[in-house]
Amino acid sequence: MSKKTNKDFWNVFYKNKLAVSKPSNFAVFVKEFLNNYSSTIVDVGCGNGRDLFYFKKNKFDIMGIDLSKNAVSLIKKGLKDTKDKKKIIHSDFARFDYKKNVKKKFSIYSRFTWHTINERSEVALLKKISKIPNLEYIFIETRSDKDELCGVGKKISKNEFVTDHYRRFINKNNLVKKIKKSFKIIYLKESKGFSKFKKEDPCLIRLIAIRKSIKT
Ligand SMILES: C[S@@+](CC[C@H](N)C(=O)[O-])C[C@H]1O[C@@H](n2cnc3c(N)ncnc32)[C@H](O)[C@@H]1O
Repeated sequence: MSKKTNKDFWNVFYKNKLAVSKPSNFAVFVKEFLNNYSSTIVDVGCGNGRDLFYFKKNKFDIMGIDLSKNAVSLIKKGLKDTKDKKKIIHSDFARFDYKKNVKKKFSIYSRFTWHTINERSEVALLKKISKIPNLEYIFIETRSDKDELCGVGKKISKNEFVTDHYRRFINKNNLVKKIKKSFKIIYLKESKGFSKFKKEDPCLIRLIAIRKSIKT
């Protein structure tokens, strides 16, 4: 599936308001980990902003990036504060210029979006962000290749499948190998039970990493 049709899928999804508005368990987990964090959380692929609104409510500085125009306008509508509205950006998070656009210390928060980009974009993104001095943490919650949806739909490669949209199911060891080049992994778990929704209980990878040059 091309990026255009993937984008179309999410546009229809948010136009029809199919997304849950309650914050995810991952956002709660990250909030507890960060405690009184004073830097910016950049939610990459922020969707309807369910987690962004939660971080904002908990006094975190926020920025959101999403490829779907409808998702971006949904969030902007919900944000009364003009200052924050400017920080909701319609863009591809893999191509976004973090260095130019994020001046404060920041962390990248990716929930259910790491598996939306292909491996080439992933490698380029990691290479790019590893050089940004004001980046602190990366938080990832993503579908693993042990997830039962891996193998469903049109096969693009061993780990890539298209149903009504594209997904690249992530191999834990492969992800760890790439992340470890520039980041220190401080939390890693691959499991079901993280994000149960109705009858769904996907097998996910949760990862927290900090840039190597920054002391824990
Ligand atoms: C499964 S939803 C997750 C939304 C939100 N993070 C959550 O946990 O509810 C995936 C989101 O990523 C966005 N997305 C997919 N690929 C993207 C990309 N390359 N750049 C920016 N956003 C992207 C989609 O538009 C969609 O809003």
